Amino acid sequence: MILPILAYGHPVLKSKAKNITHDYKNLTQIIDNMWETMYNANGVGLAAPQVGLSIRLFIIDTKPFSDDETIVKDERSKLKSFKKVFINPEILDQHGDAWDFNEGCLSIPDVRADIKRSKSIFIKYCDINFKEEIAEFDGLIARVVQHEYDHIEGILFTDKLSSLKRKLMRRKLLDISRGKISTDYIMKFSKNKIK
Ligand code: NI
Repeated sequence: MILPILAYGHPVLKSKAKNITHDYKNLTQIIDNMWETMYNANGVGLAAPQVGLSIRLFIIDTKPFSDDETIVKDERSKLKSFKKVFINPEILDQHGDAWDFNEGCLSIPDVRADIKRSKSIFIKYCDINFKEEIAEFDGLIARVVQHEYDHIEGILFTDKLSSLKRKLMRRKLLDISRGKISTDYIMKFSKNKIK
């Protein structure tokens, strides 16, 4: 089932999400719905808060990046098969030179900005069977993981912009929060107006 994606300004997107246990109600169904929702919106990642659930869960499938010829071939083949569910993740370490990449977010349609993120990360997480894993990721995969991880911390990429850049985007962000936006996927907007 395709779920509505919360738009910028919705309070759930600003909340720090909570860990879950293996018996969390309807977890398999929730994850299935998240995949369907993400693919329908042509995203490469989706975090549970974006579908209104303040839990520490996100999914990533970087396959769409594998067609991008501006990315080196070696990395593209990694991106092609990277598909993962992250439950209760914890970033243990971020390292390597920070680099800029033009990011977008399904909760902030038609807005993109260059965001600096660490090159590599160590992350601990549970897979779909609640088996604990520790992994190191780098490059674009590390970037997508960091973007989704921010979502479960209640942080959006626009929070990382300078106040000047955010000021320049203010009108656009207000419009998104008020539903003055057209997308080819269903969105849900906050009832409270943001300032
Ligand atoms: Ni996002």
